[in-house]
Amino acid sequence: MDAFLFECGEKMRTKEMKKVECIIRSEKLRDVVDALKEVGIGGMTVSEVRGFGIERTRPDSFLFVHKTKIEIYSEASQVNKIISAILMHCSAGKMGDGKIAVLPMDDCVRVRTGERKNKAIF
Ligand SMILES: Nc1ncnc2c1ncn2[C@@H]1O[C@H](COP(=O)(O)OP(=O)(O)OP(=O)(O)O)[C@@H](O)[C@H]1O
Ligand SMILES: [Mg+2]
Repeated sequence: MDAFLFECGEKMRTKEMKKVECIIRSEKLRDVVDALKEVGIGGMTVSEVRGFGIERTRPDSFLFVHKTKIEIYSEASQVNKIISAILMHCSAGKMGDGKIAVLPMDDCVRVRTGERKNKAIF
């Protein structure tokens, strides 16, 4: 019984987490980062990547274009704000504007302290 109560208490203290991953035009990065600072995220990872979407130059080959990928570990309650910030700066209504993926996230660990879940995000 005690273990059950403890488990319930732990669940109440932890918040659902998501990973937000987006691919944007590289020249939009600075503006998106500024907007995300306003949202108040815990951190982010940025990489230069290459990829393609639904367009094809030729039916039998893919054209890889340079894009920028942003990855953010966030609380689920922040996801809509993050998406809005990205759309505000990246949605020009043109092909290749990018894509956002929201993934479930089971856990997060701050390596320095061993803190887990949302306590490890901020
Ligand atoms: N299904 C996918 N899986 C993984 N990465 C993708 C996928 N679709 C797009 N990407 C990545 O996102 C980048 C931008 O995609 P893009 O904006 O061209 O998407 P799209 O679906 O083709 O939409 P649009 O018609 O607006 O161009 C791609 O260069 C690629 O890196
Ligand atoms: Mg495309």
